[in-house]
Amino acid sequence: MTQSATPNQLESRVSGPLAGKVRVPGDKSISHRALILGALSVGETRISGLLEGEDVLNTAKSMQALGAKVERTGPFAWKVRGVGVGGFAQPTAPLDFGNSGTGCRLVMGAVAGCPITAVFDGDASLRSRPMRRILDPLELMGAKTGEAREGGRLPLTLHGARDPVPIVYRTPVASAQIKSAVLLAGLAAPGVTTVIEQEASRDHTELMLKHFGAEIVSTHEGAHGRRIALTGQAELHGAEVVVPADPSSAAFPIVAALIVEGSDVTFSDVMTNPLRTGLLTTLREMGASIEESDIRGDAGEPMATLRVRASKLRGVEVPPERAPSMIDEYLVLAVASSFAEGTTIMRGLQELRVKESDRLEATAAMLRVNGVKVEISGDDLIVEGSGHVPGGGLVATHMDHRIAMSALVMGLAADKPVKVDDTTFIATSFPDFIPMMRSLGAEFS
Ligand code: S3P
Repeated sequence: MTQSATPNQLESRVSGPLAGKVRVPGDKSISHRALILGALSVGETRISGLLEGEDVLNTAKSMQALGAKVERTGPFAWKVRGVGVGGFAQPTAPLDFGNSGTGCRLVMGAVAGCPITAVFDGDASLRSRPMRRILDPLELMGAKTGEAREGGRLPLTLHGARDPVPIVYRTPVASAQIKSAVLLAGLAAPGVTTVIEQEASRDHTELMLKHFGAEIVSTHEGAHGRRIALTGQAELHGAEVVVPADPSSAAFPIVAALIVEGSDVTFSDVMTNPLRTGLLTTLREMGASIEESDIRGDAGEPMATLRVRASKLRGVEVPPERAPSMIDEYLVLAVASSFAEGTTIMRGLQELRVKESDRLEATAAMLRVNGVKVEISGDDLIVEGSGHVPGGGLVATHMDHRIAMSALVMGLAADKPVKVDDTTFIATSFPDFIPMMRSLGAEFS
């Protein structure tokens, strides 16, 4: 299966100036973590602004299946009554994470620290993604992998450790999912679990663990890395979590506002954690007008209002060390680069090959089918911008929400309409993308 049972095609076309003020949905990374830490806490966690996309709803269901009480109390408002660290109950059915690598991998970490057995499964996209990178450290901590497909792919059975062992683990790639899985397993281990990363990845797990009462210390390691030490056998206490708007979702209307002439769009409450703002840095280097105001924070996560105005963009070189802070944004950056004058070189994109789809190939294909000159050289993506995009292509989304949204953004300023073969997967991360874009003036049909 390469797409949904009933694919929904959609076409986007040249649109008038985009204008208005919006709040994109809650951050996906923080939403998953709030549910999982709530479930591992003693007492009640109240979450506001939760992303009610399919990925996060699957994590909510898995927490319920593992014994936590998870309840929706209003729009984007959720309550979790946790079972405490190590307290998960044996689930009676496989845990289905749908399209979500983050939900699946973080919950693997949490399960690895409990004496239970769980079966992990997902859709065709998730079943094709590598899980060895998570299983390797969890096995060092005492968990055991039962039945699995080759390369440790889903569906797989994980036996959690009765007596989890704290480890010192150097992540082989900059991945917040690997780091988080080890830390979540380490919550139940005696002593200190340490994760060392050569390039710092998003630190929402660390910030939220602190917010829930864990003892966790993060220090710099080398030029761009971090060393994170978590004291295990922690007692987490239910907390209040306010989920800021997701910068990775805001990325789509932000780029749309930049490329559609005359646009002026304001985004409220966008999370501006520096480990997530590589796209904003890059767009500003390209000449984008993005103003920040009302800067504030909650539970260690900064947020701001962003005002974005249509701008003439120029090509830039994006260094590889910036990749972890914008790993989900390269698709839409490639769209912005197509409308820029000059060449944009994005370096060090090997991790894009193992996302919801092979995003390196899929991004190049999206651009090519719409008449943009693009090349993959090793792990680099090189886009020759000429100030305009011919368009007219049909883009294959490969069960990947971000390809669908990027292609629809491209069509808003391309010479001819751009069609996507399936918008279904947009619901995994940004269920209101289409109506929200229409409310700003986007023409989809
Ligand atoms: C995420 C980490 C990133 C990112 C994903 C969300 C997270 O994946 O691509 O969308 O919430 O931890 P990797 O850890 O594989 O880089």
